[in-house]
Amino acid sequence: METSYNLRKFVPNDLQAVMQANRVCLPENYTDFFFIDLHQRFPETFIVAEENGKLLGYIMCRIEVGLSSIGLGGLVRKGHVVSIAVMPQTRRRGVAQAVINKSLEGMQYYKAKQAFLEVRVTNEPAIALYKKLGFEISKTINGYYSDGEDAYVMTKKLA
Ligand code: ACO
Ligand code: ZN
Repeated sequence: METSYNLRKFVPNDLQAVMQANRVCLPENYTDFFFIDLHQRFPETFIVAEENGKLLGYIMCRIEVGLSSIGLGGLVRKGHVVSIAVMPQTRRRGVAQAVINKSLEGMQYYKAKQAFLEVRVTNEPAIALYKKLGFEISKTINGYYSDGEDAYVMTKKLA
């Protein structure tokens, strides 16, 4: 039988599966407090995808206030994509695209006017994903990662 994944907001019971996905997929890992704190502050932008009770991927974000980097003028609310990952065996099925789109709706619920994120300059899959969703490279941060790699900051205006 063909099944498909379901998108929903993170609940605390997802914590171990999300932390496991984060460890499998990314070198940037966080404490359990970090995940729970982001969920408590910004539940609308912490989204998971699951299928048959298994976690396929997650996105978690933070709303920040700062100067607009895309000419919106003055201080604006921005949605910061802190971490997104999809399990290796379930990639290229649109899961990342789906969780980001749902999280962007959450950012708008929090009145964010733009979304941004940092990504390793060599992370071609992620850069292609963000470009497909309308993010543009706005600057490079030299030595952003702990191993010395540079980051692109990518930004998207929200409607
Ligand atoms: N090569 C080229 N383009 C790609 C690739 C790839 N390997 N993966 C995704 N894309 C682009 C394509 O345009 C794709 O559309 P298409 O399949 O119709 O061609 C589009 O992105 C959407 O792809 P999804 O299927 O939604 O992406 P997926 O669910 O496979 O997840 C992700 C992509 C999150 C980058 C995944 O590869 C992953 O978890 N990588 C490791 C963790 C990671 O790098 N996370 C991002 C770090 S930056 C941050 O967290 C802010
Ligand atoms: Zn960041």
